[in-house]
Amino acid sequence: MNRVGFVGWRGMVGSVLMDRMREEHDFALIPEARFFSTSQQGEPGPDVGQGAQPLLDAHDLDALAGMDAIVTCQGGDYTGQMFEPLRARGWQGYWIDAASTLRLREDSTIVLDPVNLEVIKQALAAGKRDFIGGNCTVSLMLMAVGELLRRDLVDWVSAMTYQAASGAGARNMRELLSQMGALQSSVSELLADPRSSILDIDRAVTAAMRADAFPTEQFGAPLAGSLIPWIDKPMENGQSKEEWKGGVETNKILGRAENAIPIDGTCVRIGSMRCHSQGLTIKLKQAIPIDEITAMLAEANDWVRVIPNEREQTVAELSPAAVTGTLRIPVGRLRSMAQGPQFLNAFTVGDQLLWGAAEPLRRMLRILFE
Ligand code: HSE
Repeated sequence: MNRVGFVGWRGMVGSVLMDRMREEHDFALIPEARFFSTSQQGEPGPDVGQGAQPLLDAHDLDALAGMDAIVTCQGGDYTGQMFEPLRARGWQGYWIDAASTLRLREDSTIVLDPVNLEVIKQALAAGKRDFIGGNCTVSLMLMAVGELLRRDLVDWVSAMTYQAASGAGARNMRELLSQMGALQSSVSELLADPRSSILDIDRAVTAAMRADAFPTEQFGAPLAGSLIPWIDKPMENGQSKEEWKGGVETNKILGRAENAIPIDGTCVRIGSMRCHSQGLTIKLKQAIPIDEITAMLAEANDWVRVIPNEREQTVAELSPAAVTGTLRIPVGRLRSMAQGPQFLNAFTVGDQLLWGAAEPLRRMLRILFE
């Protein structure tokens, strides 16, 4: 391993990846880091400790083929356009990709090494070369409770998600804030007057939210002050594609294609910036005391934190506001449910740009250098 090419390093996920690689001094491991661009080839690239080199053309198959590994956060269209022609000309390098395009191919491995390092190692030993980051919701759920699935303690999982604007893209994050601002400004005078009626304020906010001028170009509906219970395209069985991914990707990550655990639920967009949260109902194969479950989850990896099922700690630590911008994966609200002792309730939060996108790719690249 000598040359690593980076594509899409300036976008939202790519920028988070670059920041994390700098923080962890990953570039010091890479003898030659090369940066590609779809529009600014020839201009100086970033200096990651090796001097700024001119940007290479991300559509130049010869330049791409000169890499031992390519890390792309450029998106699914780019992968769809470049991956096959590059392999067709005999390129044997490692392809590490944030996009979903290749995820479910037979030859691809979904990477989340704190959960599936063994699956990754087996894939490397078998000569596999395509390593793809998982869907953010799936990766975040598995960082939190994957240990229960890995130990084969689970019959099924229902995941009700509360997904951040960032999962839909940078423009959506801006639109969420514009919507929040539009709501606030529609009632700023009433809000400033402590004697104004809350029902007058509510009427004005509702009118603003439903007005043609309300900014909904990205989401197609109000999100601030509301929610959107559909993410991604429809599947034929009534699931959204995000809901469908929950089942297929989880089982692929765990290497359980033969003996899949049913995972399903409703995926909902809410007005958080970059943390996805999930309310989980986990049907265990048999009742397990909560302190045993707590110990299993807490020891599963270095990032998960079990939050005791107490109000103050939950409110303080189990929220997007507490977690955003960090690698922490809190999981809490652990208790058996009224349905019976085998039914475990859980709630978890994670930053969808970190463990949900950039971090597994960064760590996969490190594995290649070990
Ligand atoms: N599909 C996810 C979402 C993000 O829309 O929130 C990427 O995994």
